[in-house]
Amino acid sequence: MKITVIGAGAVGATTADNIARKNFAEEVILLDIKDGFAEGKAQDMMQTAALLGFDTKIKGVTNDYLQTAGSSIAVITSGIPRKPGMTREELIGTNANIVKEVVDNLVKYSPDIIILVVSNPMDTMTYLAYQVAGLPKNRIIGMGGALDSSRFKYQLATKLNASPADLNAIVIGGHGDTTMIPLINKATWNSIPVKDFLEEIEKEEIVQKTMVGGATLTALIGTSAWYAPGAAAAAMVESIALDQNKLFTASVYLEGELGESDICIGVPVVINKNGWDKVVPIQLDEEESAKFKASASAVRAMNAVLKDSNIL
Ligand code: NAI
Ligand code: 2OP
Repeated sequence: MKITVIGAGAVGATTADNIARKNFAEEVILLDIKDGFAEGKAQDMMQTAALLGFDTKIKGVTNDYLQTAGSSIAVITSGIPRKPGMTREELIGTNANIVKEVVDNLVKYSPDIIILVVSNPMDTMTYLAYQVAGLPKNRIIGMGGALDSSRFKYQLATKLNASPADLNAIVIGGHGDTTMIPLINKATWNSIPVKDFLEEIEKEEIVQKTMVGGATLTALIGTSAWYAPGAAAAAMVESIALDQNKLFTASVYLEGELGESDICIGVPVVINKNGWDKVVPIQLDEEESAKFKASASAVRAMNAVLKDSNIL
């Protein structure tokens, strides 16, 4: 299987690295517009193959989409990241034009491709990708919930002194500091509800820390995070490539599910060789439903910028 990663920056390179280490793909094409940048990163990663024991071939290219031809999956990470104090939403103008051009090129050379969108503001970029790609909706997936859910598990594990892998917890809604919804009352520690172990104030703290997880790292590092984003994107690619039917929250085009239509927003989905196969029905309580509705309104307002700026 051939997989393309667009953007050889922090997240793109980490995604390619994680895919290669998992050793399920024959070839990863890493593409960037900066001359020689992807070639250099690819060569550096290939020089870990003997040490790490993988056979995946990573090839870096400068804006040469012919090299991506016949890809089964592409991950789009091209664009500018957040700087301290910036919201994901402030990236829209620059990143929308990049994502549009990238999607056109990917589909031209790989008409059956499945596209995983990472560039921010991710829900709006996923909506844009769906609108311009002309592909079935199941082939366009936005990565945000997988990352936010892993950050949520980290916060829960830290508070409970538990192993993160023992936590079952998801974040739905938009991938934004105020739009994401960590479903703490549904979270479990190996099937035991976490609410059995936490005071109200502790639950609030965990939810708040999860929601500003990205901004916290941006303030510390000076740019946005890449290890967890790259690992999350690679895990989703693996579920597609190996037809694993794993459940992730991902931003997908809704047509009535959870009461929303004509929007891409984070919901639980099964990820397999078809892309996202189905939205997993989830019963939200009154408070969760109200938050989901508010989150969808905020994402929809962001999508409107695409029309107002004549991008769509
Ligand atoms: P970065 O600046 O390290 O890398 C971006 C790369 O894109 C650069 O190497 C740049 O040369 C390249 N690029 C720009 N225009 C391009 C084009 N037209 N074609 C090909 N490559 C192009 O940024 P980083 O940290 O890798 O972040 C990438 C994006 O991912 C940002 O928009 C960031 O906000 C987003 N992000 C999303 C997350 C999510 O959960 N959805 C998590 C983390 C980051
Ligand atoms: C993150 O959540 C900024 O979306 C990026 O780290």
